[in-house]
Amino acid sequence: MSTFRITRILPEDATDAALRADVLAGLTSSPRTLPPKWFYDARGSELFEEITALPEYYPTRAEREILAVRAGEIAAASGARTLVELGSGSSEKTRYLLDALTGLRAYVPVDVSESALDRAGRAIAAERPGLDVHALIADFTALELPDTPGPRLLAFLGGTIGNLLPAERSAFLASVRSALAPGDTLLLGTDLVKDEAVLVRAYDDAAGVTAAFDKNVLSVINRELDADFDLTAFDHVARWDAEREWIEMRLRSRTAQTVKVQALDLAVEFAAGEELRTEVSAKFREAGVRAELAAAGLEPVHWWTDREGRFALSLSTVR
Ligand code: SAH
Ligand code: TRP
Repeated sequence: MSTFRITRILPEDATDAALRADVLAGLTSSPRTLPPKWFYDARGSELFEEITALPEYYPTRAEREILAVRAGEIAAASGARTLVELGSGSSEKTRYLLDALTGLRAYVPVDVSESALDRAGRAIAAERPGLDVHALIADFTALELPDTPGPRLLAFLGGTIGNLLPAERSAFLASVRSALAPGDTLLLGTDLVKDEAVLVRAYDDAAGVTAAFDKNVLSVINRELDADFDLTAFDHVARWDAEREWIEMRLRSRTAQTVKVQALDLAVEFAAGEELRTEVSAKFREAGVRAELAAAGLEPVHWWTDREGRFALSLSTVR
């Protein structure tokens, strides 16, 4: 018998308060920004799944290739009885780990998207007799893990760590370190610096799926905060920042316009061509990842890439 449970760590009203605070701070700052976790309502999660299948979006395929080749080594090195996965989404690539981890007792997917967790968690519990699936609707930057058998393997895939700003990233890695005990391991997926054209295409595809995903954050604000963003009045922009080595996603206002956010009693004026930053996606180099892990008290013991060297998975122990 397997079990499936889903627990909401953040109460609905806390999510609402956080959205209000984030939107108010972001839309009144200069330049304007919006924090990326609000992309992922049910529609946003669906659009992200479409992105992962796009010909231009190589990270999913590259990371899947590494997992397919290395799952056995990862399982042997971790010996995990619990797999915790942050930002698990569809948990699609996770299946390589679930198959390889023969002693696994519990799977704890953590995500802000209830629809994605419910779908993936139920399916995995149904397929794997004896596995306890305990899904958490939670913010992975405020990590709180249930009491499940150790050792634990904490997986953070998809290059999602790159969506945190550098200061957020070091705070996040420190919190991961303190949630882990000796004998636990961290499996981290990081997208690597590469040719600018390849990077930009991955975040601005020909079919316009990424543009729709980017604009979905405006729909979330329209619905949740009673705003009147006109999605056709903004263009999706993806730009490579060579100095910071990150892709920056922005929404550019096509015209001078005023957007009202009723729930915040806020009117936001956009100049023609003004850009709103919606997300960064940092790209990494091996030395940088190793240094950030070490600074957090984690010790990388394996570094694997796909054959083309586009994406890396690292496995770290606790120092
Ligand atoms: N791991 C999957 C999905 C990556 S997309 C893959 O590799 O394909 C990023 C995922 O992280 C989404 O499912 C999104 O809902 C989730 N997410 C984003 N910010 C989050 C946060 N602050 N806390 C928890 N989950 C978050
Ligand atoms: N974690 C994903 C990444 O950085 C998220 C993502 C992919 C994304 N495409 C996007 C976020 C487009 C915003 C817009 O690759």
